[in-house]
This record gives sequence, C-alpha cells and structure tokens, in this order.
Amino acid sequence: MDNSASLRIGDNEIELPLIVGSEDEHAVDTRTLRARSGFVTFDEGYGNTGSCLSKITFVDGEKGILRYCGYPIEQLAEKSNFLEVAFLTIYGELPDQDKADNFREKVLRSTNLHVSMERHFEGFPGNSHPMAVLSAMLNSLGCYYPDMASNNRQQDLEHFDNAAAVLISKVRTIAAMSYRTKMGLPFNYPDNELGYSGNFLHMMFSQPHHPYIASPEVAHALNLFLLLHADHEQNCSTSTVRMVASGGANLFASVASGVCALWGPLHGGANMAVIKMLEEIQKTGDDGSKFLDEVKDGNKKLMGFGHRVYKNFDPRANILAQAAERLFASLGSQDSLLDIARHLADAALHQDYFIERKLYPNVDFYSGIILKAIGIPLDMFTVMFAIGRMPGWIAHWKELAENPKGRIHRPRQIYMGANQRDYLPIEERD
Ligand code: ACO
Repeated sequence: MDNSASLRIGDNEIELPLIVGSEDEHAVDTRTLRARSGFVTFDEGYGNTGSCLSKITFVDGEKGILRYCGYPIEQLAEKSNFLEVAFLTIYGELPDQDKADNFREKVLRSTNLHVSMERHFEGFPGNSHPMAVLSAMLNSLGCYYPDMASNNRQQDLEHFDNAAAVLISKVRTIAAMSYRTKMGLPFNYPDNELGYSGNFLHMMFSQPHHPYIASPEVAHALNLFLLLHADHEQNCSTSTVRMVASGGANLFASVASGVCALWGPLHGGANMAVIKMLEEIQKTGDDGSKFLDEVKDGNKKLMGFGHRVYKNFDPRANILAQAAERLFASLGSQDSLLDIARHLADAALHQDYFIERKLYPNVDFYSGIILKAIGIPLDMFTVMFAIGRMPGWIAHWKELAENPKGRIHRPRQIYMGANQRDYLPIEERD
C-alpha cells in the first residue's frame, strides 16, 4: 500500500501521510490539513478519529479482542491479578518478583488517609452521590501531596511512582469511607494484612467485633471485576483524563476529571442502570420478553447492551458471565435477576433486532450482577468501576506526560451560529 492518501478539495489535491499501527491499524494523518487547505475534519463523537499514539491497550471491536500491552485479556483474567495488571498497564511490562513486591508494598503502605482528610467527608450532605464525593476527594488528595501535584510536569513525573501508588491505594479507602459516612457508620481502618480486594471489602463491611472476611470466591470475583476494567483505550473518561492532562494538570486533578466523565449512564453508570432495569422487569413479573418487545419498538433501551467499539462480542462480558455463574454457585444463592439477565442475553444472540444492530452484552451487563451479589450498594457501582479504571487513567496520564512533543488538546469546531450582528439596547429589541 502507498504510504500516503490524497484528498481532492476543488482543484487542490492534498497528499496526506498514512500511519500504520503495530496491529496493522491504518490512519490518515490529517495534522497538517488545515494549514495546507483551510479545511478541518468533522467527526462528531470522534468515532473516526485517532486522538493519540498509544502503547497501552489494543482493542479490535470487530473480532472481540482486548489486550493490555500485548497480553490477551483472557490470559490475564485467568493467570494474573489486579495489582499486577495495574503495574503492566502503567509501566508497559509485567513485573519481575522484586518489582512486583516493591509495587505491592508501595500500594499497601499507602492505604491510610491523612486524618484531616477524613473530616472532609463530614462536609458533604448525607445523600451525596459517592461519585461526586470520589471526584472531589481525589482532587483534594493532591493538596496533601503538593510535591506530586505541582502542575510542574518535570516535578510531577519525578514523583510519579509514588503518586500512582497513592492513588491506586487510597481510591479504595476514599470509596469505603464515603459509603460508611453515608450509612452513618464508623470508619473501618485498613488492614494491610489483607489483599487489595479483601482489604476494600473489610473497609466497607466489617462491623465492630465482626470483621468481614471475604470468601476466596468473592475476593476473586472482585479482583476479576477490577482487572477487567483496568483500561479500555480512548473511552470517554480516559480521553477526558488525557485532555485535562494535556493542559499540564497534575495526575490527581486529571484522574478526578476521569471520575466525572465516568459517572454518566452511557459510560460507567451503565452497570447501575442494568440492575435498575432488571429490577424493573422483575417487579412486573416479566421474564424479560415484554421488555424486549418494548426495546424493539424503540420505547426502551437495553442497558448493558451495545458498544461503540465492540460489534461482535465484548470479551470482558464473556469472562464476567462465567464468573457470575461461578460466584452464584459458590454463594449457593439464586437470584431471579440472573435468570432475567440470561434470558435477555440469549435474546440478543438470536433475535434479528439485536443481530442486525450488532448489540451484545457489554462488560456492564454482568458486572452489575456480580457487584450486587457481593453486596455492593447500587450507587457504589460506578465507584467500583472507577477503582478498577484507576490504573488505566494513570497509565494514560504517564504516556501523555512523557511525550516531549505533546501539545495541549484543542479540537476545532464548525460554527453554525448567527452571523455578525449589531448589539441593540434592550428597549429597541423586538
Ligand atoms: N438498546 C437498544 N437499542 C440500542 C442499544 C441498546 N442498548 N444500543 C444501541 N441501540 C440501537 C440504536 O437505537 C441504533 O438503532 P437504529 O439504527 O435503529 O437507530 C443502533 O442500535 C446503533 O446504536 P448507536 O446509538 O449508533 O450506538 P453507539 O455506538 O452510538 O452507542 C452505546 C453505544 C452508548 C454504548 C449504546 O449502545 C448504549 O446506549 N448502550 C446502553 C448503555 C450501556 O450499556 N453503556 C455501557 C457502554 S460500555 C462502557 O462504557 C464500559
């Protein structure tokens, strides 16, 4: 193939270089287009725009492939764990034993919050959404580490390793404390003898004299949930992190913005919406069939289905579907929500509406069911996603910050508003 593409605009023929990614992805490099032609590209929603060169995650939505730094998600889900995958996404390689121990130690040592930060929780109204609290607290966390959050790129990079460990560790503590505050319960301080997931569940659910010890199956399911969410290339929240970081903002401020972007129901809020949808179906005594009819009539949306990138299947959903079955078997409980979920997923594979539109269960479809079975309250679901996504946000911040040629992200627009007009005093306006 040629290494350039030509674009004809009127009589003007413009040669544009091609870029080929390491997995043979092709792109037309339009960076010089405006300077050479006066034209910009229009790509609302960025569905055809590569916003960066990245080495972290590869997704092939048509084939249902997801790899972190080259490693297939299926292998990582089977053989690795969340902290190792966090290291992988951030540093680009699996750690050797020393590096793994060092990273784990750093994360485990960073669990506690400064006591004065604990008082921040009292400042939020009792019914505050935990995503609002999480975003505010992560940004505030930077105030306690001014050396790591200086907005001086060189300095922030020098302190990066510690800042990354602080965030991966404390995001759990903040999440659990916001839950305890909302419930009017005393804080549970971290128990660093416990693993990453077990410690979080202890901080959430232990009661005085009744420590919560997660069963291996529950700790494994949570670990898997976090691992599968660790990164997903240029999604809405990760692109937001990169956008904020491109202006020179520190790591804490950048990931706090990622939390805000993740909050929406079309992104991280979907796992919560899935449970609400399943409960709504359950309440009416429907097995899912009537709801599916309403979806096909265009009156309802099937939450947890569809994906901008995956148009075949979401490999994370396949892994979590099996994990949900295993978790339910180990808990010995049956939840009719799972039956409804199975019915909806089955319909998607066999009914024309879904086949034609390539709508498959996405990761949020099963993650909501798993989180509910673990006992995570509904309004904490998106917070759980944020804990899982933290390594990805951190990795993208690092990748962007280390790029010496990086420029501030500043898209163009096509202005469609009023042409120039004259200001009239209020009494002269119609
Ligand atoms: N239920 C019913 N129909 C749907 C759904 C759905 N969940 N998703 C898409 N469609 C239909 C659309 O109505 C459209 O139909 P049409 O061609 O008849 O107009 C067609 O499928 C194409 O859909 P788009 O909206 O073009 O898909 P897009 O890529 O823009 O949206 C999105 C992707 C936002 C994920 C969408 O599928 C959706 O809203 N899903 C539900 C929310 C959800 O689960 N979000 C989580 C995404 S994963 C994540 O963030 C981790």
